[in-house]
Amino acid sequence: MTVPNLLDPIPPISTTAVRVRWLVLESVAAEHWAAFAALLDDAERARAARFHFERDRQAYVAAHALARTLLSVEAPRPTSDWRFVEGVQGKPEIVREPGMPPLRFNLSHTHGLVAVAMTHAHDLGIDVESIDAGRAGLDFAERVFAPAEIAALRAVPPEAFAETFYAIWTLKEACIKALGGGLSVPLDAFAVSWDPLSVQFSDTLGEDGAHWRLFRATPTPAHALALALRHPEPAAVTLDATGIRPQDILALAAQAGANL
Ligand SMILES: CC(C)(COP(=O)(O)OP(=O)(O)OC[C@H]1O[C@@H](n2cnc3c(N)ncnc32)[C@H](O)[C@@H]1OP(=O)(O)O)[C@@H](O)C(=O)NCCC(=O)NCCS
Repeated sequence: MTVPNLLDPIPPISTTAVRVRWLVLESVAAEHWAAFAALLDDAERARAARFHFERDRQAYVAAHALARTLLSVEAPRPTSDWRFVEGVQGKPEIVREPGMPPLRFNLSHTHGLVAVAMTHAHDLGIDVESIDAGRAGLDFAERVFAPAEIAALRAVPPEAFAETFYAIWTLKEACIKALGGGLSVPLDAFAVSWDPLSVQFSDTLGEDGAHWRLFRATPTPAHALALALRHPEPAAVTLDATGIRPQDILALAAQAGANL
């Protein structure tokens, strides 16, 4: 396919920055899907083929194409050359080659949206969720959220309930993903706050909330996004977070050497 000109080039991130890019899946045209799949490696294409629902397959392909492309902006190489290894609870990390910057990343996919976060050296997690007012209930919150979060949720007016519920949900997921602990992290062992953004951990987790930086965005009116980063100097961290167009992903990938 013809690769469009890149209208919005992005430089490599500084060592104290976090980059977040999200992609709205309804902006992806039919002809982009094969090009996205070409950015993956064979194992990912095989996994993509096993999804039962097309929307899940597309979210997977888009998220992994975006992650590989953003990595190739940092250390130029064909997107399909990146190799990953999974931690104990399944968190993927880059297999680093000599001379490569200490890149860390995390990705998230949901109905209609994918996002990738990237930084140098430090643990980070990202979560996106499609806002479903029918799922946002106090009974569910009481089963999974921490007492302080439940109390704060009870105090919000009904019209703000779903947005607040998903703010807590995505912030908690982002923290869990930064820790890499998956389902092994008890959801009531830490409490997030969204105004101001902060997290408090119970002693059992051995974490200091003062070394965490949280971030939220609303990529679309129907989606919530949250990021969590553990960093020795959280105030020094800068954020570069915005949406990206499918054609920009393909142009960046082509610049990095992808054979489209
Ligand atoms: C891995 C986990 C984070 C899945 O999260 P999810 O919201 O279903 O899925 P997301 O799309 O946000 O993230 C999945 C991606 O995170 C990455 N990932 C996998 N395991 C991970 C881990 N242990 N830590 C961080 N990232 C992980 C992978 O890249 C994965 O995508 P891939 O399979 O396409 O490579 C898992 O911890 C989980 O299911 N947690 C649920 C906790 C919960 O009950 N939350 C309720 C309200 S807070």
